Amino acid sequence: MDNRPIGIFDSGVGGLTVFEAIQKRLPNESLIYLGDTARVPYGNRSANTIKKYARNATHLLDQEGIKALVIACNTASAHAYEDLRETYDFPVIGVIEPTAEDAVQTSRSGNIGVIGTRATVNSGSYEKAIQGFRKDANIFQVACPLFVPLAEEGWKDHRVTGLIVDEYFNAFEQTDIDVLLLGCTHYPILRDVIERSIHTHFPDLKVLDCSNATAEQLEKVLMNERILREEIPPQYRFFATDDPERFLKNATAFLANNIQIVEHVEITNV
Ligand code: DGL
Repeated sequence: MDNRPIGIFDSGVGGLTVFEAIQKRLPNESLIYLGDTARVPYGNRSANTIKKYARNATHLLDQEGIKALVIACNTASAHAYEDLRETYDFPVIGVIEPTAEDAVQTSRSGNIGVIGTRATVNSGSYEKAIQGFRKDANIFQVACPLFVPLAEEGWKDHRVTGLIVDEYFNAFEQTDIDVLLLGCTHYPILRDVIERSIHTHFPDLKVLDCSNATAEQLEKVLMNERILREEIPPQYRFFATDDPERFLKNATAFLANNIQIVEHVEITNV
């Protein structure tokens, strides 16, 4: 038993899609969410910069006394997972492995589409993880760098969003994918538009995101380590590195979370 909170971070509001799945699956657990909004987006940065941002975010959460860390960001999971796992004593859960496994279990043909930030796609992490579960899988990746700003702006149903999604998805035309993996935690915010567009190409295709598979993986780890929380009620805290009001507005407009207060935090370089 361990009553300390779990730390969760992302570059912005996207990781709240993972936060929600965790909250649902593990309703006793206290959670601290950090949105590094002063540095969003991570996905267009270099590997070294992403690693540095992820270290800084984890350091801040570590100082809050967390018992486990969830990297609720594909970009940071792709570039910093190993580094954070080696640096910290608490369990570190990334989004890529559990989601890759979910995609392999869901796909019949093994032809899997992956969309993500440029840094995630270029890292090759999904290819490696998916082929680790199914050697003969064919992975078709498309970087969609404009999706994160659209999600952070809340342009979930905007006409322009539809046009941009269609434009990116033309790249899948020559493929025969049966699963589309949303390899960025911001993308479920745009899920309706994404599904509408991809289903015009592939009506029976399944769209997967990282949230449930990651929450399930976290539960397994907490159970194996025997560090589930027993005290109730849980506490939820939200941190943002930029304007907390803006974070609150974006978060509550698109996610079912009942967030009351967002605390501003300054990130320090470590
Ligand atoms: N939500 C993030 C991800 O899953 C970060 C996107 C970004 O900041 O570019 O990759």
